[in-house]
Amino acid sequence: MVILAIETSCDETSIAVLADGKVLSNVISSQIAEHTKFGGVVPELASRLHLKNLSYVLSQALHNAKIAITDINYIAYTATPGLIGALHIGKVAAETLSTYLEIPLLPLNHLSGHIYGAAIDQQFEFPLLALLVSGGHTQLILMTRHLKFEILGSTLDDAVGECYDKVARMLGLSYPGGPVIDQLAQTGNPDRYQLPLPLNDKSYNFSFSGLKSAAANLLTKIRNRGEELAINDFCATFQKVCVDTLMQKLTMAIKEYQPKMVVLAGGVSANQSLRKAFLGLESLGVKAVVPKLEYCTDNGAMIGRLGYQEILNNNNK
Ligand code: KG4
Ligand code: ZN
Repeated sequence: MVILAIETSCDETSIAVLADGKVLSNVISSQIAEHTKFGGVVPELASRLHLKNLSYVLSQALHNAKIAITDINYIAYTATPGLIGALHIGKVAAETLSTYLEIPLLPLNHLSGHIYGAAIDQQFEFPLLALLVSGGHTQLILMTRHLKFEILGSTLDDAVGECYDKVARMLGLSYPGGPVIDQLAQTGNPDRYQLPLPLNDKSYNFSFSGLKSAAANLLTKIRNRGEELAINDFCATFQKVCVDTLMQKLTMAIKEYQPKMVVLAGGVSANQSLRKAFLGLESLGVKAVVPKLEYCTDNGAMIGRLGYQEILNNNNK
C-alpha cells in the first residue's frame, strides 16, 4: 500500500512516500530563510512559496522513492490546523492528484500527524501519553488505543515554541528562536539568572506567556543595571524552566495514568535538553520515545504514517 503525503500547513513544503508504513522518501523544502528576514512566518509569503515549490518537491519525492506516480494508492494531506492559504495549496494539490489518479483522499490533522511521527520507527504501546510541543500548540494527550486522543491539558495562552520564538526576538536572535536558544543554552549556566516555573499547580495545563513576560522583565533589569547580558546563561536559564515545567506536568500524568509508553512530538521535540530529560523518564518504568530529528519539525512522513494508521483502522472495522 503506497501513500503519498502532503504537508503545507506552515513554512515547510513537504511530500513523503510511504509503502506499508515505511518511509521511502521524505522531501522537506524549508522556507525559513525567506521568513527570517521578517522575524516570523508571513502567511501570504508562505502560500506563495508552497505554490512555487510544490511541483519540484513532488517530483523529488517520487524520484527518491523510486516509484511512478501511478504506483500510488492513497493521497494524504494536512487539512487542519494551519495557515489557511498554506493549507489550501496542499489541499488543491492533493485533490488534483486524487482525481487524476482515481484514488482515495485522506484529509488529516496536523497535530495527530506530529504524534504519529513517533510511530514511524517505533510501535506504539497503550496506554500512551504524548507531549505535543510545537510553535502553535502545547498539549498533554492520553491515548488508550490508536487514533483515540484525549487531551488532558493544554496551554492556556502561548505555546512553548511560540515562547521560544518571542524570547529569541527580545534577545535579538534570528527566527525561529527555538534552535538558536537551544544551541546557546548548551554552554550556559542555568543557575546564573532566576525565572519562575509557570503554572506550578496540580492541573495538566501549561502557561508560557507569564514566562515570556518574566524573561522580558529580567532582561530589562539586567540592561537597567548596566550589566552585560550573559546570553548563554540567560538561554540556559530559560530553557531549564521550559523543560522543567513540561517534565513536571508529564511526571504527574505518568503517576496518575501509568502509561506503557510516553511519546514526544512537535517541533520543540528537536530540543536537546528536552530530549535528554524525556529519555530520563525511563527511570519511572515507562518506555520513552523521541522521534528522529527529521520527523520533529513539520514533514510529510508523519502525515503519511498517520494516514497509514487510518487505513489500517478502517480495514479492521
Ligand atoms: O511543529 P513545528 O515545526 O511547527 C508548528 O506546527 O508549529 O514547530 C515549530 C516550532 C518553532 O516555534 C521553533 O522555534 C520550535 O518549534 N523549535 C524548537 C527547536 N527546534 C524547533 N524549539 C526549541 N528547541 C529546538 N531545538
Ligand atoms: Zn507542526
